[in-house]
Amino acid sequence: MYPISMSIFDGKLTIEVAAASGIEAVTKRELVRLGYQPGGAVGGRIPFEGTYSDVLRANMFLRTAERVRVVLGKFCAVTFDELFDGVAAMRWQDILPADAKVIVNAKSRNSRLFALSSIQSIVKKAIVTSMLRTCASFDESGALYSVEASILSDEVTLTLDTTGEGLHKRGYRTYLGDAPIRETLAAAMLQLSVWEPSRAFIDPFCGSGTIPIEAALMGLNIAPGILRSFACEKFENAPNLRPVLQNEADELIKRDVKLHISGFDIDPDAVKLALKHAQRAGVRDSIHLQVGDMRALSSRFSHGVIVTNPPYGERLMEEAELRALYADFGRVCAALDEWCVYAITSYKAFEKYFGRRADRVRKLYNSELECRFYSFMAPPPKKDRSKV
Ligand SMILES: C[S@@+](CC[C@H](N)C(=O)[O-])C[C@H]1O[C@@H](n2cnc3c(N)ncnc32)[C@H](O)[C@@H]1O
Repeated sequence: MYPISMSIFDGKLTIEVAAASGIEAVTKRELVRLGYQPGGAVGGRIPFEGTYSDVLRANMFLRTAERVRVVLGKFCAVTFDELFDGVAAMRWQDILPADAKVIVNAKSRNSRLFALSSIQSIVKKAIVTSMLRTCASFDESGALYSVEASILSDEVTLTLDTTGEGLHKRGYRTYLGDAPIRETLAAAMLQLSVWEPSRAFIDPFCGSGTIPIEAALMGLNIAPGILRSFACEKFENAPNLRPVLQNEADELIKRDVKLHISGFDIDPDAVKLALKHAQRAGVRDSIHLQVGDMRALSSRFSHGVIVTNPPYGERLMEEAELRALYADFGRVCAALDEWCVYAITSYKAFEKYFGRRADRVRKLYNSELECRFYSFMAPPPKKDRSKV
């Protein structure tokens, strides 16, 4: 067992970054680019060593992560008594203030303890018991501390969430369109594609604008967390590192990069939303957003990249209509023969109606919905082949 016996604001921490299934490798690459040395992903968690400042940096700069947690302790437990004793033995008074409002979430896989509501209530009881050893009372009137007990093959890992609202909530998408994609998934799809900021980009089914906005944030190097705060900033005695972090994020922005990012949607209301979101995200001047039917799509660029989230048919349209739409999309993309195309959909026969076998298919999840992310490659661009 290694319980930490100090505040999370001092010294070295084990930090765990949660990523959605299928994009762990992308998130791990992001951590490496930020200068960290992540370990292997286990159950969608990628560990790395750092300090509280690194916790904030991970929250601020990771585009594809869902959440950042600090590991508080690990021990084995196969009975509820062992679980209680292991949790109660930890020095919670070093981590929580006497008025902390503690919520406990539980997860269990491949373990003898698996009743989640019992795990939750035993862990909570053990934390309160531990706190009452050093505090006269524990009234839970203060800041929220979200603890997770995750049991994997009988090993209990206790973590403290530092993020609060999931990292997909960047703060620019305040109005919800039809079937929006998660911002973190949109960023992962872009990173799984060959797109880079010098290349032309189109999302022909842009809806509320998530994919083009994430592309513009990447292109201008705007930190995804720049508009929001994180749960740990409200923890008692948290050092105020926000000015330093904000300054680092501001200095990294490349305002003078010229981007060629467009988003189209047949629905004028969706495009209005996309424009509002782009404005809030600070990328309004870097994206072209317009009402347009995908069937009329063309480009002045001979080569470029399409990353898109077309209708799935789940809620938005009938199957026959969907098949016809995919067939038309396939014809439009065939005409853009030097463009790479990436599309995510839960519709299993997408390739059949699109009319081409994908070069690569990955299983990804859009929230809970199992989807496939299809990659259709084109020859790499030769220099100066753009028609502009
Ligand atoms: C799954 S939603 C895209 C959601 C988007 N990724 C977002 O984050 O909001 C699919 C979009 O395709 C649009 N659409 C459907 N048929 C279209 C067509 N023929 N041309 C262009 N857009 C179309 C719908 O209006 C809808 O906004």
